[in-house]
Amino acid sequence: MSNRVEKITRVGVFTSGGDSPGMNAAIRAVVRTALYKDKKVTGIYHGYQGMIDNTMFDMDSQSVSSIIQMGGTVLKTARCMEFKTTEGRAKAYEHVRTAGIDALVAIGGDGTFTGAEIFSREFNIPVMCIPGTIDNDLNGTDLTIGYDTANNTVIEAIDKIRDTAASHNRLFFIEVMGRDSGCIALNAGVAGGAEAILLPERETAIDELIDMLEQAADRKKSSMIVIVAEGDKNGGANNVARCVQEKVGYYDTKVSILGHLQRGGAPSSADRVLATRMGYAAVNELLKGNTRATVGVRGSEIVTTPLEEALSKKELKLNEDLVEIAKIMAL
Ligand code: F6P
Repeated sequence: MSNRVEKITRVGVFTSGGDSPGMNAAIRAVVRTALYKDKKVTGIYHGYQGMIDNTMFDMDSQSVSSIIQMGGTVLKTARCMEFKTTEGRAKAYEHVRTAGIDALVAIGGDGTFTGAEIFSREFNIPVMCIPGTIDNDLNGTDLTIGYDTANNTVIEAIDKIRDTAASHNRLFFIEVMGRDSGCIALNAGVAGGAEAILLPERETAIDELIDMLEQAADRKKSSMIVIVAEGDKNGGANNVARCVQEKVGYYDTKVSILGHLQRGGAPSSADRVLATRMGYAAVNELLKGNTRATVGVRGSEIVTTPLEEALSKKELKLNEDLVEIAKIMAL
């Protein structure tokens, strides 16, 4: 155990990047675990931006009362460009040091992990990350906090859209979040019984999509739902719908872009429990001397992975079997 770790007296906690449902449960777990271990806790508002702006406050057990069921993040969040500069990080460290923070827990996605890795290395401050993003696109974990809730939100929307699609015999293109990740699209597409799913990880030509739709129509499907991940190479649901209409004008097409409603809402039970386990583990790992790492879940086990490793490779998150199953289920 390094001297630096032995001296941990105050843990700083923050959320950064896109919010995700369950972040509050993770904050609560970090705060209560640290207090249980006789450590003090500082909450940092707006992620890295809050370190630079020095917007920090003392947290106690009451600070995290009745937040486990809330979406969003009570610590607020931001995407901070200034932290990408050496000067920005130096300013941030000065405020962290002055606040007496000697270890950090960062909750967020890959941008958060990258910032944490650099900051920890530059200033030799222990850092543990918790994967929080609806995209489920992080290495070192099977699941990220918020992914389950977002899937449930999307499925609820698909179910509702299917009612109106079926009533009018319409073809709907539903766009879901995921700039680089098709996890939500695939999962919600399968659970929502979509006729086709367009993913950023796979190129689907418009002609190929039209073939799928024609075959579905031949099988007497009167209404259809196509899930389009935001990062699909055809340029999003509006573009896909326009291209399909241009080639085959006879469908009554509609587009629905679900957008940021996918990021909000009360976290599911699974996300609350996952966030609680990860928050608890993050503090305990720091106090054991583990640093510059992320917690994650593999199967049912909580694990840690060095940030350098988590940031250097790209795990294939897309379930290949599910991609095949989705096609068969659309028959
Ligand atoms: O990373 C989470 C996410 O919701 C992505 O799915 C989406 O592409 C992006 O954030 C949107 O970011 P913003 O809210 O900054 O527009």
